[in-house]
Amino acid sequence: MPTIAALGHACFTISGDTHSIIFDPWLSENPEAVATPEDIDVDAILVSHGHSDHLGDAIAIANRLGVPIVAPYELAMYCVRHGCETMPMHIGGANTFSFGHVKLTQATHGSAVITDDLIEYTGPPCGFLVTMDEVTIYYAADTGLFGDMELIGELNDIAVAILPIGDNFTMGPEDALIAAEMLQPGLVIPMHFSAFDVIEQDADEFAAQLDRIGIAAAVLRPGEKVEI
Ligand code: NI
Ligand code: MN
Repeated sequence: MPTIAALGHACFTISGDTHSIIFDPWLSENPEAVATPEDIDVDAILVSHGHSDHLGDAIAIANRLGVPIVAPYELAMYCVRHGCETMPMHIGGANTFSFGHVKLTQATHGSAVITDDLIEYTGPPCGFLVTMDEVTIYYAADTGLFGDMELIGELNDIAVAILPIGDNFTMGPEDALIAAEMLQPGLVIPMHFSAFDVIEQDADEFAAQLDRIGIAAAVLRPGEKVEI
């Protein structure tokens, strides 16, 4: 059974019986990260969008390990330009890789690489449905609440939903609660709520509210993990 480890903010690893992956590896610039990019050893890097707190160290890790970045097409092409092996995909599309099955879901957000003098568009952002060792994990990525989460919940037997609760840039706790009701996962792991002041939230209170509606939650501080 896979183990989900929180490395800080929106960065998680999923480690299964034979393979492992990482989501949105923002580490070297992340004040709460518990790992450095050099610590990471995975079979693939899944990146939801181009914002720096998600693309993070993905390019460096991919190039060091020689493993692919799985991302929406435009973002994947950005990574190709930086020397990476990629598996370009797009929303609604699915594929099976050595580590498991991946389907890209919509996310209502932006996606660009932003530097001092340039905003480089990297296509629409996405979420990920990953099935590894027969366990399906929904990583919503940065997104607002959207009604098709109901459909995602209906069509998939979601063991774990990793949902943003930070508000301001993504869903806040109230909307994430509605998302959880629509998705009906076995477990909710909140993310994107403490790395900077504007997204500060009480994740334990969120977990308590989920508990009241009969949905289990695990609040993982950076460095903590849970076996599914
Ligand atoms: Ni973002
Ligand atoms: Mn973000």
